[in-house]
Amino acid sequence: MKIDDLRKISVIGSGAMGSQIAMVCALSGYQVTLQDIQFESLEKAKALLNSQMNKRIVKGKLTEQVVEEAFARLSFTTDLKEAVSDTDFVIEAIVEKLDIKRQLFAQLDQLAPPHTILATNSSTIVSSEIAPATNRPEKVCNMHFFNPALVMDLVEVVQGPHTSDETAEITMALSKRLNKTPILLQKEISGFVANRILGKIMNEAIYLLENEIATAEEIDLACTKALNHPIGPFALIDLTGLDVHYNVRMERYAKSGDEADKPSSLIVEKVERGELGRKTGQGFYAYN
Ligand SMILES: NC(=O)c1ccc[n+]([C@@H]2O[C@H](COP(=O)([O-])OP(=O)(O)OC[C@H]3O[C@@H](n4cnc5c(N)ncnc54)[C@H](O)[C@@H]3O)[C@@H](O)[C@H]2O)c1
Repeated sequence: MKIDDLRKISVIGSGAMGSQIAMVCALSGYQVTLQDIQFESLEKAKALLNSQMNKRIVKGKLTEQVVEEAFARLSFTTDLKEAVSDTDFVIEAIVEKLDIKRQLFAQLDQLAPPHTILATNSSTIVSSEIAPATNRPEKVCNMHFFNPALVMDLVEVVQGPHTSDETAEITMALSKRLNKTPILLQKEISGFVANRILGKIMNEAIYLLENEIATAEEIDLACTKALNHPIGPFALIDLTGLDVHYNVRMERYAKSGDEADKPSSLIVEKVERGELGRKTGQGFYAYN
């Protein structure tokens, strides 16, 4: 397959990431199907995308016509077969659980045409852990977007030892056509580049908070006002979701067995209380 042959993209999982990735693809002129096992998640994605696009129209960032045409290219379904039976490229953005991703990739391998590339948006799991679930490991890679995908520019493409050069090249070329800035990593490492650096910052921020050196607000202010970060670490965890942060740390701990990789008790307590950040109205900050 050549990049010019790529017409249809399927995004699997319509949560925080999948919904916006699907919109990014539709805005770039691709036919897109967004699939989720939960009908409610698709309905929520549709409503959120409508409101996000309306805001851009009001601000003059996009025209009504561009948005209308993008929505006309975007369809929603709970049926995986319908979503991928004629697709050229799949971007998986489902829950961050290795066994569930493996099950899904085995199904995708059965249902998608033989030429189709299967990419995972996982934040931590390298595709060599998923590719053996398929009979097309050379067409499996990581394509990692950042939250919010409609805004954030970087995409990390990771070419595992099983990934063909053609797959890596098409995924890089597609990222550029989506108006993103991609980097190609040719060595796998869990968490890739940006989040590994961010992880170190998060650890230090949580250490400072737990030891009562500073409040979450003060630590966020230090990062935004002294280091010029656009958002502080605690505001960022609230945006990403404390549950996502928790799952990422548990996956890392499962792999390393290192207690230091476990989520901090501060995060565990908040997750247990259902304080998951913006999506529940309460995280390190309260939201209306
Ligand atoms: N949240 C972030 O900041 C962020 C950033 C980059 C990458 N990621 C990665 O993106 C992926 C999704 O994260 P998210 O934050 O959008 O999660 P989310 O919880 O918001 O959404 C996940 C969606 O996947 C659906 N789902 C679960 N199993 C499914 C299946 N078998 N088939 C179809 N749909 C299924 C759920 O119903 C849900 O709607 C994860 O791998 C995560 O590591 C997340």
